[in-house]
Amino acid sequence: MRILVIGSGAREHALVRALLADPSVTQVIAAPGNAGIAADVPVHPLDVADPAAAAALAAALAPDLVVIGPEVPLVAGAADAIRAYGIPVFGPSAAAARLEGSKAFAKEVMAAAGVPTAAARVCTTDDALATALHEFGAPYVVKDDGLAAGKGVVVTQDVDEALAHGSHCLARGGTVVVEEYLDGPEVSLFVLTDGSTAMPLLPAQDFKRAADGDLGPNTGGMGAYAPLPWAPPDLVEDIVEAVAEPTIHEMARRGTPFVGVLYCGLALTSRGLRVVEFNCRFGDPEVQAVLALLDSPLSALLLAAARGELATAEAPRWRSGAAVNVVVAAQGYPQAPVAGDPVEGLAPAAAVPGASVLHAGTAVDGQGRIVTSGGRVLSVVGTGPDLQAARAVAYEALDLLQIRGSHHRRDIADPARMAGRP
Ligand code: AMP
Ligand code: GLY
Repeated sequence: MRILVIGSGAREHALVRALLADPSVTQVIAAPGNAGIAADVPVHPLDVADPAAAAALAAALAPDLVVIGPEVPLVAGAADAIRAYGIPVFGPSAAAARLEGSKAFAKEVMAAAGVPTAAARVCTTDDALATALHEFGAPYVVKDDGLAAGKGVVVTQDVDEALAHGSHCLARGGTVVVEEYLDGPEVSLFVLTDGSTAMPLLPAQDFKRAADGDLGPNTGGMGAYAPLPWAPPDLVEDIVEAVAEPTIHEMARRGTPFVGVLYCGLALTSRGLRVVEFNCRFGDPEVQAVLALLDSPLSALLLAAARGELATAEAPRWRSGAAVNVVVAAQGYPQAPVAGDPVEGLAPAAAVPGASVLHAGTAVDGQGRIVTSGGRVLSVVGTGPDLQAARAVAYEALDLLQIRGSHHRRDIADPARMAGRP
């Protein structure tokens, strides 16, 4: 089987590596990829925001399956454009990707499907924003309605900061969602679906804040681990029954079936589980940890979802043990990442037993050096018999890397920080 992977992050590098390890995959091609992906497989240039360009590339390469990694091409309609050529695609249509593309739409679908989530008000004026903030009280949760690469949400005790963020989004012509605050630990569960059958992967936890102790601004994600030793035993089953299946059925009922991976971001609150967000693709950095534990072929699962055959597909098998992914971010991330700094120590880091180094924002410069080219530069994944062993492996590898001014969290999968949130 020949597979084209679209995207350029560590999520796509993890997908490429998992597919290369799959005996039924004869070739993996990526577009546009990054320096690390290009070292593993052939890559083609691509503007991922241009669905016609993605479809033209897919038609020219004629793969057996296209896997679309990021949300931007999905929300823009890349899956529709590629399917129009008769090529199977793992990833939802633009109509289904609205579950991530609009938080207000996701709330509407959840209400119709009876899925538990935070109470919310959709605001289009500063007056409505102020009223909603007053109604819910502190801590305030204010979300940009559209795509914001994980940075559109402000959670704060400070009403002025909440008002300022909301006003800023409104001033750009957007819509704002104000929500009730959800307490309790967060969980990410990826549920593969062909539009009717739900097949969950391992639950994971993401660390979204930039700094140790869950301080600093929200980011695209600074690290993750799987599985969750503290989770209740029936957590996955509960999420599938209460969240994934009703949502998948509601999307099908609307004539916009969701095909791909429904990323269920949840809070396990004192009042039960609640959806924090849906995404229409695998989570980054969580999927790097989840795929490090996959012990059965990935291509069969993705193809079965793309073809509507998940009901008869074999469920994934998992290695025992755990995986921890620590993200190395460029100087200035998330506000203003600095590009062009050399990345040193890649070979010794990758040689640490149990470690793998996945690339995200990397490129090759004019002198042939690997340099930073984005906010999240690398994902360093450690595996081991348990989380503490996996964590030690990840940090041992990470400490062999040198990137001027880079930063990372030291407390990913730290037992003291694993489930909690301030
Ligand atoms: P989102 O982009 O919706 O996932 O939000 C990003 C992060 O903001 C989440 O992972 C949470 O940590 C936090 N967050 C979002 N919504 C809420 C909420 N209603 N209550 C508390 N924290 C939230
Ligand atoms: N891990 C957060 C995200 O992928 O949106």
